[in-house]
Amino acid sequence: MDAIRDAILAGAPGEELAAIPIPESFRAAFVREDELDMFEGLATNEKDPRRSLHVDEVPVPKIAPDECYIAVMASSINFNTVWTSIFEPVPTFAFLARLGRESEWGKRHDLPYHVVGSDASGVVLRVGSAVRDWKPGDRVVVHCNYVDAQDPRAHDDAMMASNQRIWGFESNFGGLADLSVVRANQLMPKPEHLSWEEAAVNALTNSTSYRMLVSHNGAAMKQGDVVLIWGATGGLGGYAVQYVLNGGGIPVGVVSSGSKAKLLEGLGCGAVIDRAAKAYRFWADEHTQDESEWRRLGKDIRGLVGEDPDIVFEHPGRQTMGASVFVAKRGGTIVTCAATSGYMVEYDNRHLWMKLKSIKSSHFANYREAWEANRLIRLGKIQPILSAVYPLTDVGEAASQVHYNLHEGKIAVLCLAPGEGLGISDPEFRDKVGEDKITMFRRLGA
Ligand SMILES: NC(=O)c1ccc[n+]([C@@H]2O[C@H](COP(=O)([O-])OP(=O)(O)OC[C@H]3O[C@@H](n4cnc5c(N)ncnc54)[C@H](OP(=O)(O)O)[C@@H]3O)[C@@H](O)[C@H]2O)c1
Repeated sequence: MDAIRDAILAGAPGEELAAIPIPESFRAAFVREDELDMFEGLATNEKDPRRSLHVDEVPVPKIAPDECYIAVMASSINFNTVWTSIFEPVPTFAFLARLGRESEWGKRHDLPYHVVGSDASGVVLRVGSAVRDWKPGDRVVVHCNYVDAQDPRAHDDAMMASNQRIWGFESNFGGLADLSVVRANQLMPKPEHLSWEEAAVNALTNSTSYRMLVSHNGAAMKQGDVVLIWGATGGLGGYAVQYVLNGGGIPVGVVSSGSKAKLLEGLGCGAVIDRAAKAYRFWADEHTQDESEWRRLGKDIRGLVGEDPDIVFEHPGRQTMGASVFVAKRGGTIVTCAATSGYMVEYDNRHLWMKLKSIKSSHFANYREAWEANRLIRLGKIQPILSAVYPLTDVGEAASQVHYNLHEGKIAVLCLAPGEGLGISDPEFRDKVGEDKITMFRRLGA
């Protein structure tokens, strides 16, 4: 991999990269099947990714005709890597075994180790015989929708395919590694005004927020909509705030500290709620929710923007869902893609049906949505929310920052890139977009 890295850093053309042999093994971050029991008896917050995530050499798999090898320059931590590393809610080896049963090529993924990671920026090294739009030397970012086109349902919306998976979570050979195997239909052009690490952090959460808010598959926000955004400086929320502002909406951002509130104001979000300072207790005890606390949140939102949210951007799950359903406007939409604090959610159905509200589910994004979200990054209309950078050797520490909610925005991981700030090939456009805007989370983040 050293020869490949040196050639990329020297700006070698595609033919030169294609002539460098693919090594037999590569450095990767993975969890091991024989350690599945390591956290037995521990509470979720005691399960430490630093113990379960390993970085070592693993063999290079073959590529299928519709796949590519990419040299990964940088990747990012997503919450799904936290889930895999703490073996919750289920160990991801079951996903690999299911993929293994699907086809001959699927069998490659069913291994006693799982190479994780669902984001990457890098360079195409080789393409399979059926790949037509990409070639060695192309500088790319990777989105994580891992799906083929063999299911008729995939042709309206690829997220509807029965074998739709998230690369690096429900498949092996993810992006937290020096090399990765991806389908050609996961590739998108790298935003050339960004460094490798700035380019690597966007695809998963930016595309998810795009579908949830902008796409007709999600809440299809319109100008003037009030949008309540939980975790508004987190991986999803930091993009959600930008989409609401770009689309002429009114974001109300919820965060849990004064420093996050400042960051949110820097993003241009005028209505900010510090949930730690407000000390909402939506659950009076483990089994009972407290409607008066939902009302207190609703009153706080009205106090800031004068009306109830048309859309609630929901992902914390059990802790907030009752409040989210309650505070949404009559006829409003609660769009949800996750349940970080617990997936057995509870809400008062009377508030849903009597006020004709809807709950809309959303999951990642199809290729078109991911492409549009990446296009907005390339146009400088959406900024990366990179706040911290770790080397691959410290991937466990990086994942634990996300697990324990110590981070803001997104954390990047350098794979082949030897340092920060490399890979920018359009500095003029970077100047035009504005260094301050591009690096806001890096400068002001924790
Ligand atoms: N379905 C999909 O396609 C998809 C895609 C991406 C992510 N996800 C899921 O979405 C969730 C969020 O992902 P992310 O990348 O945004 O994570 P993140 O970077 O950790 O941000 C989430 C934020 O939510 C807030 N939060 C956490 N627990 C909360 C609670 N109990 N009550 C209120 N707010 C809470 C925190 O912000 P404050 O502390 O500042 O309030 C946190 O920073 C994860 O569960 C992830 O797996 C799903």
